[in-house]
Parts: sequence; structure tokens; C-alpha cells
Amino acid sequence: MDIMKDLRRNIHPIDFDAFSHGQINSKLWLCEKLEAYFKTLAAKPLSVSIYGSWIGLLPFMLLSRGQLQIRQFDLYDIDQDAHVTASKILDYWKFAADLKINHHVQDCNHINHSENQSDLIINTSCEHILTLDWWNRIPSHTHFCLQSTDMKHPTHVSSPESLEAWKGSLQLHSQQISFSGEQFVSYDTFSFRRWMILGRK
Ligand SMILES: C[S@@+](CC[C@H](N)C(=O)[O-])C[C@H]1O[C@@H](n2cnc3c(N)ncnc32)[C@H](O)[C@@H]1O
Repeated sequence: MDIMKDLRRNIHPIDFDAFSHGQINSKLWLCEKLEAYFKTLAAKPLSVSIYGSWIGLLPFMLLSRGQLQIRQFDLYDIDQDAHVTASKILDYWKFAADLKINHHVQDCNHINHSENQSDLIINTSCEHILTLDWWNRIPSHTHFCLQSTDMKHPTHVSSPESLEAWKGSLQLHSQQISFSGEQFVSYDTFSFRRWMILGRK
């Protein structure tokens, strides 16, 4: 048997940037804030939608930390290849718990919320999405957690000047926000700000 041939057939190209310090650090920040937020609310298993879910590392981290009770993930990404990798990473977790994971190869700007009403919607890819249709369509009272950045990058098509400017563009009132904050990330050759807003629409 040609083991290398067999291995290659099972390996899908992975975007290893997903494992970088900045990507993982910001997701750890999100996990910590989200876990603290839901600790104060009624403990019922959550259905969670993730927009721009990429290769599924955020759901992987939320599951492996084991702090939130999650009964269903709905992962939305326009990139079919990202879903293939995400399902390889996440599929084995379906055995560990009473957990459903649905993959949607779909533009999150076109989600029909009468078909899927999640308790919580997470979007850590806000900087990659030009319009705010995805945000405007989220039903009132839905819990949300969003991240964005001012990092300059060819794929960052939406780049607010500041956390306050970003909040303004989302037309959020202070009563809707439970947490908002900024992390300044500085490396040898570049630096940027990462913002997060957590609350209920
Ligand atoms: C580079 S990745 C994620 C970066 C982000 N910092 C994170 O860690 O979540 C951006 C993802 O958003 C997806 N994406 C971009 N526009 C989208 C849209 N309109 N609907 C759904 N997914 C989208 C891309 O396919 C990609 O997988």
C-alpha cells in the first residue's frame, strides 16, 4: 500500500494563518468574555451561529474549553474548502456530546432567520464583509459577539477607524452592549487594534 498516496488523498489545503498568535489570542479573548457573559444568564444549551466561520477553530476552541453548553453550531462561510477543513476538525466532536453541526456554504448577508433562529450569533470576520446586511438582518433580542480590527490587509474590506466609530456604524445603544473592548497587538514589524462587542440586539 502506498501510505504517502493515501495520506495525500486525505489532506486538504489548510490556511495555517488560522493558527497564528493573533487569530488564536483574539479567539481566546472572545471565549473568556462569552463564558463570563453566559454564566450570569439562564443555563440552557445554546444554538450558536458563526458567520465567516473559516476552518472552524472558534467552535473547536469553545468545545474544547467546555465552559459553555452548546447544542448546535450553524457555520456560515462562502468558502466551500474552508468548510471541508472545518468538518474534518469538528466532526469527531459530534461523538462527544449531544451536538449538531450544520455547515452552510452561504453568504451571511443572505441568511433567512425564519429558518434558523440561533440564541447567539458570532462574527469575528466583520473586517472581511463590506456591507452590514448580515447585521441588519439579525433579529432583535439575539445575543451577539462581534470582532473587527483596524489592521491593514488586502482582504480587509471594512476597517473602522476606532471602536466608537464601529459601534456607531452598527447603531448600537449602550443598553444593548454588555462588554466592549480593545486589544492593542504589537509585533516586531506591525501592530493593530482588535475590537470586540458583546451584547443583545
Ligand atoms: C480570514 S477568515 C477569518 C478571519 C477572522 N479574523 C477570524 O478569525 O474569524 C474570513 C472568512 O470570512 C469568510 N467570508 C468572507 N465574506 C463572507 C460572507 N459574506 N459570508 C460568509 N463568509 C464570508 C471567508 O470565506 C473566510 O473564511
